[in-house]
Amino acid sequence: MLTEKDFIATSYNSIESASFEWSAPSNIALVKYWGKKENQIPANPSISFTLNNCKTITKLEVVKKSENNSFSFDLLFEGKPKEDFKPKIQKFFERIEQYCPFLKEYHLKIDTQNTFPHSSGIASSASGMAALAMNIMSLEKAINPTISDKYFYSKASFLARLGSGSACRSVQGEVVVWGNHAKINGSSDLFGVEFSEIHSNFKNYQDTILLVDKGEKQVSSTVGHDLMHNHPYAERRFAQAHENLSSIKAILSTGNIAEFIKIVESEALTLHAMMMTSMPYFILMKPNTLEIINKIWKFRNETQIPVCFTLDAGANVHVLYPENVKANVLQFIQDELVGYCQNGQYICDQIGNGAKSN
Ligand code: DP6
Repeated sequence: MLTEKDFIATSYNSIESASFEWSAPSNIALVKYWGKKENQIPANPSISFTLNNCKTITKLEVVKKSENNSFSFDLLFEGKPKEDFKPKIQKFFERIEQYCPFLKEYHLKIDTQNTFPHSSGIASSASGMAALAMNIMSLEKAINPTISDKYFYSKASFLARLGSGSACRSVQGEVVVWGNHAKINGSSDLFGVEFSEIHSNFKNYQDTILLVDKGEKQVSSTVGHDLMHNHPYAERRFAQAHENLSSIKAILSTGNIAEFIKIVESEALTLHAMMMTSMPYFILMKPNTLEIINKIWKFRNETQIPVCFTLDAGANVHVLYPENVKANVLQFIQDELVGYCQNGQYICDQIGNGAKSN
């Protein structure tokens, strides 16, 4: 079992310069991570589908510098300097410094872009931190070629977690578990692990993201997670996440879509229920979020087509369905749901398998 100590880089060489490029996808949680302890340790385990089309593409150029007292980096977003992203990256570097002491030996140029529209309400922290972590691991591999693939990917996920918790689920695998769970071998609070016992019913599972509200988040996820401290229902919620993960593990391997729908929708509503019952309380759903949920339920009842929804910490709706009903569901979305999306916008995505080197 890998521990924090195993991720401290100790022996490595140095290089004059190098450049790397990785893309990493976003992911959508089925059992949600909401609540954390010190050092980005989740309060409960979570599981997600890795997406395919919504991703961040990040290029890292490194040049050896003479001193190694501080982090030195330029940050470009879509080719232009982006000063307001820098504090987050600086904080990330500070958090991972003990594991990647070599970072201070280089000047870094980080050039990043997303495939999904900027401020679409789609969290870019998961894909962004995962893509950056992959590049840092490529640098580590360049200065220490002996590291194994397992170490490479586990540490990439470990680093990504320190940037943003859910980012550790965007590194490798179609379905990823993060957080210790008694029934999932190898599961860890430190990094995501691939969950591979997946029935063919879930192959190419579709996720159409309806952009209901593209506005700035009312509540940052960090503040949101914090509200689970002293939350009246926290302990029961954390226990429930363990139970739901046990259930969904069996569901994913037997292909029981009807049961899948129950867990996934309940998890989405529970996440929002936690927000509504914290102090301070807040509502991130919009009227159109509820309109869409009701339409999905009506359509499912009338047609028996197994389409369901999930939500993240915002108003957008992820519509999940098997590939074999894609044509019907897209028609339904066009006919009945597009009207509830901001400027009629939605993004078609599906399960993918993680970060890629370009
Ligand atoms: C609601 O991973 O964005 O999407 O660790 O503070 O960066 P930080 O939080 P973040 O939280 C994601 C919460 C969620 C549920 C989930 O993805 O599991």
